[in-house]
Order: sequence, then C-alpha cells, then structure tokens
Amino acid sequence: MKILVVGSGGREHALCWSIAKSPLCEKLYCAPGNAGISDVAECLPIKAEDLDGLVAFVEQNDIGFVVVGPEAQLVDGLVDRMNAINIPAFGPSAAAAELEGSKGFMKDICAKYNVPTASYQRFTDLAAAKKYLDEQGAPIVIKTDGLAAGKGVTVAMTLEEAHTAVEEALSGRAFGAAGAEVVIEEFMQGEEVSFFVLTDGENYLPLASAQDHKCVGEGDTGPNTGGMGVYSPATILTPELEQQVLEQCIKPTIEGMKSEGHVYKGVLFAGLMLTETGPRLIEYNVRFGDPECQALCLRLKSDILPALLASAQGGLEDIKLEWHDETALLVVMAAKGYPASYEKNTVIKGVENAGSDPAVTVFHAGTARGNDGSLQAVGGRVLGVTALGSDIKEAQKKAYQAVDKISWDQGFCRRDIGWRELARNS
Ligand code: AMP
Ligand code: GLY
Repeated sequence: MKILVVGSGGREHALCWSIAKSPLCEKLYCAPGNAGISDVAECLPIKAEDLDGLVAFVEQNDIGFVVVGPEAQLVDGLVDRMNAINIPAFGPSAAAAELEGSKGFMKDICAKYNVPTASYQRFTDLAAAKKYLDEQGAPIVIKTDGLAAGKGVTVAMTLEEAHTAVEEALSGRAFGAAGAEVVIEEFMQGEEVSFFVLTDGENYLPLASAQDHKCVGEGDTGPNTGGMGVYSPATILTPELEQQVLEQCIKPTIEGMKSEGHVYKGVLFAGLMLTETGPRLIEYNVRFGDPECQALCLRLKSDILPALLASAQGGLEDIKLEWHDETALLVVMAAKGYPASYEKNTVIKGVENAGSDPAVTVFHAGTARGNDGSLQAVGGRVLGVTALGSDIKEAQKKAYQAVDKISWDQGFCRRDIGWRELARNS
C-alpha cells in the first residue's frame, strides 16, 4: 500500500518512522515533511494547507491511505476530502474535529453527555462576559473558541487579567475570528496528564499516558510552548484512574458524538487534570500530541499501521497493541528565543552521533537541509531527542547524554524533563 502522511513536525516524523517499518507499507510519502522525515519517506513539495494539491497527488499516485497529523487540516476537512474520492484517511471529519476546533462545542458535548470538566459559559458579548467574570471571581480561565495555535488560553489569577483577556479576544485584536467567541471556565487545580485513545467511532483502543512540559523554563516557569519535553507512561495515571477516564470521559464522548451525527474516528487526545475529586477533562485534541506522539511511537512494539487503518475503516476491536515496558523520555531542542521570535537557518551538528545509541532516536521537527547538505534549524521546536530506559531515571540520563552530543549554539533545551515523575520515584 502507498501511504501519504500530511504534516512537517516531530509528530509526523514519528508517525513516518513507525509506518515505514510496517510490512504493509510499500511506499511512504510525506507532505511537506522535514529533513529527518526524508530519511524514511519521500518528502513532497506540497504544503499541508494545500488541500487541493494533496487531493490531486493522492488521485494521481495511487495512494491507498492518508494520515493527517495537524489539527488545522482536520478542522478544514482534509479527511472529508479524501473520503469523497474513496480514499481512507486517519483522523476525524471536519464536523467531528470541532471537538478541538471549537472549545464551546467541546464544552457543550461534555455538558450534554456528563463528562466531568470545568463548569463554563460561552460569550460573544463583552458586557455579558465581564458581568460573568465579576460574579465568578478569580482565578478563572478564558479560552478563545477557535484554534489559536495553543495561545488561546489565559489562566487569569486576577479579575483585571481576566477582563483584559476577554477584551483582547472579543475585540478581535488578539486572535481575529478565532476569538469572536470565548469560553469562560472554572479554574481547576491538580497535576496535568495526557491520555491517548484510538477509535473507529464504535470501538476504542487505549494507547498510553504521557506528561508534557508546556512551560519554556525549568521548574515549569515562563511562557507556554507547544511542549518542551515529555515522558510516557505517566504513572500518576494509575490503571484505576485510566479506567475511570475511559468510562467517564472517553466512552460517553465517542457515543455522544455518534448520537449527534458526528461519528468520531482517529485519535482522541484527552488533556486531564487530576483533581482532588478525580480526573476532570481540560480539553480534547483531535490529533496526536506533539511531542507526546514521539514518545508513544518509540514505546510501541506492534505495527502501528493496522491500528491506524482500523481507526479509519472499522475493525478496531480486532487490534491488539504491544508496548515496550520501558519508559520513553523526550527532550525538545528549540531555537533560542522560542516561543517568541528566533533565528532561522542556523547549523546543527552531531545529530547522527546523538542517535547512535540504540536506545535513542532523534526526531526532527523544524529542520531542513541547506544547499551544502548541512542540517539547519527552520522552526521554533527543532529536535525531539528521545530515549528508552528501564525507568525514568535511565531514560532521562540517556536522553541528556544524546543532547550533549549535539552542537548547536543557537539552540537550547530544558534540563529537567521528567522531574515530577523522578520526584515521585525517589
Ligand atoms: P488547553 O489549551 O485547553 O489545554 O489549555 C492550556 C493550558 O491551560 C492547560 O494545559 C492548563 O495548564 C491550563 N488550563 C486550561 N483550562 C484550565 C482550567 N479550567 N483550570 C486550570 N488550568 C487550565
Ligand atoms: N504537546 C501538546 C500538544 O500537542 O498540544
């Protein structure tokens, strides 16, 4: 089977790396891919946003399966476009992707189907939003309804901050149309953990838990990023809690989406807050997490492709996945300045050497080859240095040993990835 993966990040590198190992994969393409992906797939000069270009390529090149990585193309209906030409594609339809595309939609589904989450109200009117803020008091959380590349959430510790956040969003200044509506919700306290489940709309197959490190600075300080590192599994999500999440969140959501007429297929990524009263949902994402996906792919022993195909076509009840017992830990190497502005086309050396330890895999996110063949950084998050270890301590040691083999003056990483789990284990 010929397969096309859409996207260009670390998530897509990990998916390509896994799919390329499948005996079912005859030829693998990635649009547009990156320098690391070109080691395992043929990268195409088609942008992920170019849905017409992608459809034309699939039609002309006998592609049998399409895997969509990023949320934006899912929300824009790439899976629907592929299904319209009878090509199976991994991921939800545009209607089902609203679970991530609209925070208000997601909250309404949770309310209707009794999924435990923060209490909330939706607003388009500034005066009404401010009145609600004053009634509720701080701390309180303000979210833009639409996609805002991970920047649409303000956890306001004071009412003043909260007022500013709704003014910025509803005026259109901060997020344009994505901010025309806001969700204001209850502030929840606890440790955060991510949980991933595959579904074909009827059956679901739990994958694994992971814990991301969203803040740019050590000790979880500084501005939020897409994720500076991750480890999996996150043992704080015990088998009992996992079962509770499946029963209370995942199952009612999948059944609810079906009864709403928006059958949900693909991966469901639940962001959870482990509160004193049990796990509560923070948000759903309709795609694999990045960098979580890299850690999951490294831990997966089984062929990923039949599971992805079954999610798209049905039959997930027959799929069993085996996992390595080891812990995976990933350190993101980012360009200095990220998540604000940063220099591009700086040269990175030593990546091959870093990946020479069989326990280590370096996934590429924002990389490209220069004309001279050098490896260059072209994004904010650039590499995901990922290691397997018998426990979190060993995985962390191996990951940082690999990081130290990479020379890149314009890059940086956090040195404390995994700290919560290490503190628990010591
Ligand atoms: P989201 O994009 O919805 O995952 O939100 C981004 C981050 O904001 C989450 O990872 C949490 O750290 C924080 N957050 C979101 N919603 C809440 C909430 N209701 N209470 C406390 N923190 C929240
Ligand atoms: N690492 C979090 C995300 O992919 O949204």
